[in-house]
Amino acid sequence: MSKKEQTLSYKLPDEFEVFGFHRDLLAWYDQQKRDLPWRVNRDPYRIWVSEIMLQQTRVETVKPYYENFMAKFPTVEALADAPEDEVLKAWEGLGYYSRARNLQAAAREVKASYGGQLPDTREEIARLKGIGPYTAGAILSIAYDKPEPAVDGNVMRVFARLLLMEDDIAKPAVRKKFEQLVRQTIPAERAGDFNQALMELGAMVCQPRSPHCLTCPVFDYCLARREGVQEQLPVKGKAKPPRPVDLLVAVIRRGDRWLINKRPEQGLLAGLWEFPMFEPDRRYTDEEWLEEQTERRFGISIAVCHELPSVQHTFSHLQWNLHVFLCEWLEGEPPSDSVRLVSQDEWETYAFPVAHNKIIEHLVDAGHCSAKE
Ligand code: ADE
Repeated sequence: MSKKEQTLSYKLPDEFEVFGFHRDLLAWYDQQKRDLPWRVNRDPYRIWVSEIMLQQTRVETVKPYYENFMAKFPTVEALADAPEDEVLKAWEGLGYYSRARNLQAAAREVKASYGGQLPDTREEIARLKGIGPYTAGAILSIAYDKPEPAVDGNVMRVFARLLLMEDDIAKPAVRKKFEQLVRQTIPAERAGDFNQALMELGAMVCQPRSPHCLTCPVFDYCLARREGVQEQLPVKGKAKPPRPVDLLVAVIRRGDRWLINKRPEQGLLAGLWEFPMFEPDRRYTDEEWLEEQTERRFGISIAVCHELPSVQHTFSHLQWNLHVFLCEWLEGEPPSDSVRLVSQDEWETYAFPVAHNKIIEHLVDAGHCSAKE
């Protein structure tokens, strides 16, 4: 075995009684599992959508989005054939929009290459956009009952405590180690229920702070509990704090319509609509800079009226501080299809980032502006 393989390999402790662990965990799951909308059947498409939504988003938040999304796009084909803007609109507010774009791209691939049926091997499924090792394992086990690990933060926490592992779960190599462990533990039958039981245990009992050990169905197996160190685990290195970014936002009014532009097709919030945003330049006042930049970007002239309340929004890696200005259109025509003038009744049909929806809320109270202040 190479040195690298050695450091990655991990053996279950000899005293870990795998069969009793399965029996107790699954019996608890059968009795206690939550009634969740993606658990009504094992349709691979339904499971797939749920797992994508549940990445980085809590179960309670996901539920209404999931019901709405499944009603709008009930099959792989329906999703593949939908206009992208409609898909983004149904995702609006869930965040991490690349998930929605990748899901649709993958649905198109499944329609074109697999006749609309999600493949059932790790090799094929992991080639689809947006499906990483966790999601592949979750779909293969839950929809197809394959004994494949599905290791996310919850499952790492449960296993770190069960087996008293002090590895830093923020490190990618450590995730591999956990995958290997779960692979050694997962039963050949009821693999999907087993993975979901681990997720359920992490969510309902083995919570990050103050785990409910007294009601834990696998209390007897837990090495961290035996040593009284369950609250110190798992070890997780600190992520870098989000980088603050100041941006100027021009909310440009022309009569009863407002100028919005589509964000680029790649990168953060790709394809969503927004009020134009500009990086500030310290050599100019914000007002001068906005007037000059809108001229340059859109070929229109505007007058800045007054500042609206600022808006903050935090992403995993950056924090937007948006300085928002109400502006009046003076002259010029918008250049392209990625710029539109829309009335308030039409907001509904466009997907905006959460931060820009907050700006829209402020606009209701913004009043008119006819002269530069
Ligand atoms: N989190 C991720 N996948 C889940 C699932 N299938 N059920 C509950 N919580 C989850």
